[in-house]
Amino acid sequence: MIAIIDFGSQTTHLIGRRLREISIPNIIVEPAEFFEKIKTIKYDGVILSGGPTSVYEKDAPTIDKKIFDIGKPILGICYGEQLIAHLLNGKVKSGKKKEYGPATLTILKKSPLFKIPSSSYELPAKIAVWMNHGDEVQKIPNGFETIGTTDTIPHAAIANEMKNIYGIQFHPEVLHTQFGIQILKNFVKICQLVPTDKPISKDLVTQKIADITDSVGNMNVIGAFSGGVDSSIACLMVYMAIGKQFTPIYIDSGLMREGETEELKNVFVNNYQMKVKIIDATYRFINNLKGVTDPEKKRKIIGQTFIETLQEEAEKHGAKLLVQGTIYPDVIESAGSKHSKNIKSHHNVGGLPKNMKIALLEPLRDFYKDEVRRIGDILDLPKSIVNRHPFPGPGLAIRIIGEVTHVKLNTVRRADQIVREEISKANLDKDLWQVFAIFTGVKTTGVRGDDRAYGETIAIRAVESLDVMSSNFAKLPWEVLEKISVRIVTEITEVNRVVYDVTNKPPGTVEWE
Ligand code: XMP
Repeated sequence: MIAIIDFGSQTTHLIGRRLREISIPNIIVEPAEFFEKIKTIKYDGVILSGGPTSVYEKDAPTIDKKIFDIGKPILGICYGEQLIAHLLNGKVKSGKKKEYGPATLTILKKSPLFKIPSSSYELPAKIAVWMNHGDEVQKIPNGFETIGTTDTIPHAAIANEMKNIYGIQFHPEVLHTQFGIQILKNFVKICQLVPTDKPISKDLVTQKIADITDSVGNMNVIGAFSGGVDSSIACLMVYMAIGKQFTPIYIDSGLMREGETEELKNVFVNNYQMKVKIIDATYRFINNLKGVTDPEKKRKIIGQTFIETLQEEAEKHGAKLLVQGTIYPDVIESAGSKHSKNIKSHHNVGGLPKNMKIALLEPLRDFYKDEVRRIGDILDLPKSIVNRHPFPGPGLAIRIIGEVTHVKLNTVRRADQIVREEISKANLDKDLWQVFAIFTGVKTTGVRGDDRAYGETIAIRAVESLDVMSSNFAKLPWEVLEKISVRIVTEITEVNRVVYDVTNKPPGTVEWE
């Protein structure tokens, strides 16, 4: 067992997931609970997570120094490394350069933490790592040595091998870090544990479905069904668990993409005979969003409107439980742990009203998208659904900067359709996590025929990712971008400029709002 102490990083849970994938049980604990918790659990090592605070700030989350004397191996990641340095009389300062995204780590010294395939391990070895920090360790504590460095941070990896204490500024849990999983496996071995690879299995899915049957009993249940990967799989699991006690509800918010409702009817109603109830709530949503420009307000209003509509349906069906396809990244970005910051209120988590009259059933809440897709494969869902690109619950509303109107919705929906068609024609869907259009709200000057034009700007966003805790903008071929651009400005006359978003996450998020 590894204890992960959570200082509020967006990726703390991801560390847990990575350990789970290599069969290492782990628990995530608050710093203040740690010493109490370890009285009752047997654990073999400790990971100090990253976090959004600076260690030298007043009220920054911390841990008692006695942690370094308990004799268990410790790995500090990002804030965790800085905390080790801070508590052991090293020095942490705001870095001259903040780093978000890719960097190159030069491994300076052989270390049990950095045992990587030998062909890559001729010192000084260079590996690609993922950074997300503003502060850095400037002076390492006594007894430590620097085992890795980058162009901007002198002490990107530090170690006290005698005491088995390690600190790294980069995030090994993020898949963009080369050998990240190997580095975690190495730490696990330092803890005298044996890592073995273990992906999501059929037994686990069968167990989850049996758990749903048990927990629901004879209650009636409704489901928030959007036709997307997560809600489809969550609803299918519940349908398999309780059959006719379950009614999936599809709310057409008017914020959906072109053709979405028809596609959903085709697959689920026709193929699976699931009795999906379809409700047209377009005017309700757009009316509630009238005059609202703040992204967080939009998200809250959409969450509230979904829930109000679903609660009305729950009453009609005598349902006590509502199924949602919430997955872990939704939870963590909505400030799912004590020290984490709210990045954006996902409509199905942070966007929910406080006074909900119905309890939630969220079978996928602990899973990441690729794990959810694996569950879909195990359940034999068609590839067209399992591999669908994600689409956020608040829909096109968070892809329109400023007030949401029917006209803007129409523009961004048409642009989105063009983008998706061209990407499919170029056979690029499978390489991308998501690709879509944004109505930026910026008007620019152009020329059409011999006339001056003053029109809208559409942005295109295409990203590659595996778990969406981090992502890269996709390097789409110029010809494909050009086709998209030409079609948008030709077919949608109110648009006269198309731009491409070249921001990674972090620091950008995938959606603009
Ligand atoms: P961000 O923008 O946070 O997006 O980098 C990460 C992934 O989550 C999707 N997303 C949402 N999904 N409800 C959802 O069901 C939401 O409120 C929501 N907001 C963002 C986004 O499309 C991306 O795949």
